[in-house]
Amino acid sequence: MNVADVLPALRGLMMRDGALPRLECVGTEGGEQTVVLAEDCPDVVAELRRQLPQGAARVTIAGVGTYHAAYDAPLGRASGKVAVVTGGAQGFGFEIAADLAREGAYVALADINAQGVGVAVDKINALCGRGAACGVAMNVADADSVRAALGQVVAMFGGVDVFVANAGVLRAGSVKDLPVKDLDFVTSVNYKGYFLCVQAVAPIMALQHAAAPGLWFDIIQINSKSGLVGSNKNGAYAGSKFGGIGLTQSFAMELVEDGIKVNAVCPGNFYDGPLWSDPEKGLFRQYLDSGKVPGAKTFEDVKRFYEAKVPMRRGCTTPDVMKAIYYLMEQAYETGQAIPVTGGQVMLA
Ligand SMILES: NC(=O)c1ccc[n+]([C@@H]2O[C@H](COP(=O)([O-])OP(=O)(O)OC[C@H]3O[C@@H](n4cnc5c(N)ncnc54)[C@H](O)[C@@H]3O)[C@@H](O)[C@H]2O)c1
Repeated sequence: MNVADVLPALRGLMMRDGALPRLECVGTEGGEQTVVLAEDCPDVVAELRRQLPQGAARVTIAGVGTYHAAYDAPLGRASGKVAVVTGGAQGFGFEIAADLAREGAYVALADINAQGVGVAVDKINALCGRGAACGVAMNVADADSVRAALGQVVAMFGGVDVFVANAGVLRAGSVKDLPVKDLDFVTSVNYKGYFLCVQAVAPIMALQHAAAPGLWFDIIQINSKSGLVGSNKNGAYAGSKFGGIGLTQSFAMELVEDGIKVNAVCPGNFYDGPLWSDPEKGLFRQYLDSGKVPGAKTFEDVKRFYEAKVPMRRGCTTPDVMKAIYYLMEQAYETGQAIPVTGGQVMLA
């Protein structure tokens, strides 16, 4: 039997004081209860509930492994939660994962850049210790890759409490001549990738909810201000992000019955991240070279031009985004929302 079909249920049943444990795969000591599940077991939660000894903290699932339930002392706003962050190798994704780990979460950084993700994981573990971070290779645009990566996360931690759908790409250009391959690329990562991630993670969360019905789990998409208002000569990106909000609202309606809240955070421009500031490939370089900003001669000129569009006259930072993420995680009475974090550049009616 697949770990993703069993461990989230086991984790839910081992809830203590309203929190789910991490499940650590350990060697058998011989004394623990062995649970046997038929390959075609129609209701894993009911069967586990029937066979699991009261208060067990260690159990063997025949054909799957022996698991120990680890409960963490409170550490911060994400204490003991298992979080997956896609696109975690750099930029917003890395900083979001690092902040969640600092606040007590166990984070899986999932990225198509497997080498970059290794470096990012080492940095977080050096900062936080306790093996808070792990990395998995994942291409969000490929359903098999997403499922396999989430299987690895479940094998490592037992389930998923928070899924941050952050991986995103941008290919700017006019509708009059943007190559179709650029449209396909942006759509496959930003729109289809988000769909595939939710399709793979929702059953894991639903199983936890079936075993621990009082608990809520979070899917949070890192969308963009370009998902709320159009973006000139950037239609492929803005369209993919508008579509992401349609998915967010629809998933929110459907997944509420599984104890899953689905929301989006829509940041303004993040100038400190590599998307803008990479000296060779970043947007400052691209906009300067293409003459997109009239009269601009330096990166600073480009930055000032865009900052002038923001009532608060600065770019978005990860601490700004984290306040929205923690709000969504802590707010028990909100789903299907898209929260702007734009310094006033986008105002909701
Ligand atoms: N940078 C900004 O100004 C800004 C503003 C608003 C919203 N956003 C959004 O925030 C998110 C992160 O942006 P960023 O600036 O940190 O970008 P970034 O380019 O710095 O990082 C993106 C990460 O996603 C990974 N990635 C790309 N394609 C992937 C795929 N198919 N599967 C898995 N991982 C993949 C990359 O390897 C990279 O590590 C994106 O969704 C973006 O649209 C960014």
